[in-house]
Amino acid sequence: MITLNVNGRRQQADVDPDTPLLWVLRDTLQLTGTKYGCGQGLCGACTVHVDGVPMRSCSLPVSAAVGKKITTIETVDAGRIGKAVQAAWEKLDVVQCGYCQSGQVMSAVALLARNRKPSDADIDAAMSGNLCRCATYVRIRAAIHEAAK
Ligand code: FES
Repeated sequence: MITLNVNGRRQQADVDPDTPLLWVLRDTLQLTGTKYGCGQGLCGACTVHVDGVPMRSCSLPVSAAVGKKITTIETVDAGRIGKAVQAAWEKLDVVQCGYCQSGQVMSAVALLARNRKPSDADIDAAMSGNLCRCATYVRIRAAIHEAAK
């Protein structure tokens, strides 16, 4: 039995320790806001925060997250930065198909938590691992600047 701290709650999962965190979140804990894209750490759709650091949950064994604070898209708007990012995303109508956007938001929140006024270059560097097949990159960048105001 694995014990996790997910979104401020103690959760238990009867899974193999090597199971990717993504599948424990989605299949065991029913937190389906975190998406599966590539399964290889390449697209960013599965991004969650582990102790505040954006991580690819598809590539992280659940055992590596034991004892750490896991935050998913379901509660990212509980904090001030998450609220600002969510509001900016809505105001600038960022989303197109939406599939990658929970990962985009998680990476944007992590960026703003460590850099309150990111430059375009800072944003591009921080977000480069989050792919969007609808190419909403220009709106994502604008929304991050909006959230930083
Ligand atoms: Fe994890 Fe693509 S699904 S990086």
